[in-house]
Amino acid sequence: MIYLDNNATTPIFPEILNKLKEWGEIFGNPSSIHSLGQKSRKEIEKARLFLSEVFQADTEEIIFNSGATEGNNTIIRGLVEAYPDKNEIIVSPIEHKSVLNPIKFLAKKGYKVKFLRIDKNGLIDLDDLKKKISKKTLFVSVIHTNNETGVIQDINAIYEICKEKEVLFFSDIVQGFLKEDIDFKKIDFFTLSGHKFNAPKGIGIMKRDKSKKLTPLLFGGGQEFSIRSGTENIIFILAIVEAIKTWLEKRDLFINHLKELKKLFIEELKKAIPNIHIVSENVKTAPHTVNIIFPNIRAQDLVLFLNKNGIYVSSGSACSSGSLSPSHVLLAYGYSEKESLSSIRFSFGVNNKIKDVYKTVEALKEGIDKLYKFGLN
Ligand SMILES: Cc1ncc(COP(=O)(O)O)c(C=O)c1O
Repeated sequence: MIYLDNNATTPIFPEILNKLKEWGEIFGNPSSIHSLGQKSRKEIEKARLFLSEVFQADTEEIIFNSGATEGNNTIIRGLVEAYPDKNEIIVSPIEHKSVLNPIKFLAKKGYKVKFLRIDKNGLIDLDDLKKKISKKTLFVSVIHTNNETGVIQDINAIYEICKEKEVLFFSDIVQGFLKEDIDFKKIDFFTLSGHKFNAPKGIGIMKRDKSKKLTPLLFGGGQEFSIRSGTENIIFILAIVEAIKTWLEKRDLFINHLKELKKLFIEELKKAIPNIHIVSENVKTAPHTVNIIFPNIRAQDLVLFLNKNGIYVSSGSACSSGSLSPSHVLLAYGYSEKESLSSIRFSFGVNNKIKDVYKTVEALKEGIDKLYKFGLN
């Protein structure tokens, strides 16, 4: 099997799988005052302290939750609820659905939403951002690294504009975290998700600016500084921190490996299939992601052909795959529906081997030849 869908999810590190049983034995409720509860509390606070150092944030600014969908919803809806005097949000058109859909929900309720312009490489227009911010703007939301194309935004420049205009800056850093150098101090609110970096699904982290109000989505026992009530998921909190530690320890090795795989893949693919189009080719993209348009091919057919050959990739974003609608991200870039439906995202992971690249290119060539020959496209 060749798994090239690491932006959808990643396999859990084997060392983490091995430790789940041991961590599962730390079962006391962290809110209990007896020693079993306090043992759990200590583990969670140790994890939070470690993260506060990674993010150069206060421990009270680190919130554990179930993942980035929850984090994104919490921030968007929580800020809007907390600051009713502002009624405007500015957002990029290439956000993940877990950002776009809560914002669309607010728009239906009468909230003003302004979409930023992006260029043909997927970079947001900073002048447009400057012009769009008004006295009524509550926050600007721009995804750090796009999950479909890998394009990386100039987060520092966006932050400077937001600060100059006194608005909050929120970024979904799910795909950029650990793969890119991020100046965490330059994002007021951000979200990330464990299963994108070899921790289990269902665990995420959110960073808030504690000097700002945020109304919780969930009310209850007041856990996580009353921002996210619910008994803490100790096993997965320990797992996500372990995955981050592993990534940080091996970061250079991992990143260089991902870069090498991606570079080789693009070189080999261009040789084998010269008429491909690489999305965001001329700008900085994540080391593990490349999105390719195969002209006149239905991506869905190619994905299924690769699947038969034990190669797993995604057409469009995994969260919306299964549907035939073109990717909202590629449409926002200015690609046609047809081009968008001809795109495949290849996302590498630390377990991929050089030989996976050669096998995938070979299979793509064979698949495309077949699709042309038998007119399946
Ligand atoms: C950029 C981005 N944001 C948010 C999410 C949602 O994360 P989760 O699966 O933790 O809810 C994903 C996952 O597909 C993603 O790629």
